Amino acid sequence: MAITNTDNPLVLFQEWFDRAAETEINEPTAVTLATASNTGRPSARMVLLKHYDDHGFVFYTNLDSRKGLELRGNPFAALLFHWKSLKRQIRIEGRVELISDDEADAYFASRDRGSQIGAWASDQSRPMTGRFELEKQIAKFTAKFGVGAVARPPNWSGFRLHPDAFEFWDDGMFRLHERIVYTWQDDNWVTARLFP
Ligand SMILES: Cc1cc2nc3c(=O)[nH]c(=O)nc-3n(C[C@H](O)[C@H](O)[C@H](O)COP(=O)(O)O)c2cc1C
Repeated sequence: MAITNTDNPLVLFQEWFDRAAETEINEPTAVTLATASNTGRPSARMVLLKHYDDHGFVFYTNLDSRKGLELRGNPFAALLFHWKSLKRQIRIEGRVELISDDEADAYFASRDRGSQIGAWASDQSRPMTGRFELEKQIAKFTAKFGVGAVARPPNWSGFRLHPDAFEFWDDGMFRLHERIVYTWQDDNWVTARLFP
């Protein structure tokens, strides 16, 4: 499959993302998020991409988790999509910033109640003595909110990654894959092809 020529990487991203939604058997929005500590030690994990547009790529998490703390100390991050059904990979790099409270509130309100309670109950990435500790927390917050609306926890929000680099990788015969990179330079996307 050849990579479509376009000056705007978001157009190509959308084309591939929409295609993955049709072909992936599970979670086409799942993406690896790589962060690094202040000292440069990298770490990676999966998140779900919840929104993207010209302003960037949005995912949600606990701000006191390992990724949350790392991103608040060092805002540079990378996203990696790999769609096995398409044999395609997209790498995206850039700087993240916290989304606005209004945007986070609106998304949090759209989640199902169990996930809302879970966001309060889980001290994400902190040690716990056992599953019972989590279940106690769930019971506590279920009782606290009763039948009323569940507010967004203050340490739960979204990050928006503003891309300054993309790489689109498409599987080729004999490992002669296609690679096209886009880098943001002087207010323009500059494209280049790379050897596989
Ligand atoms: C497919 C998949 C999607 C996930 N989506 C999210 C997500 O959107 N947000 C999140 O905080 N964790 C998500 N997780 C869990 C993370 O991978 C990770 O275990 C957790 O956030 C703690 O990471 P940290 O300790 O590096 O902060 C997901 C895991 C998988 C396997």
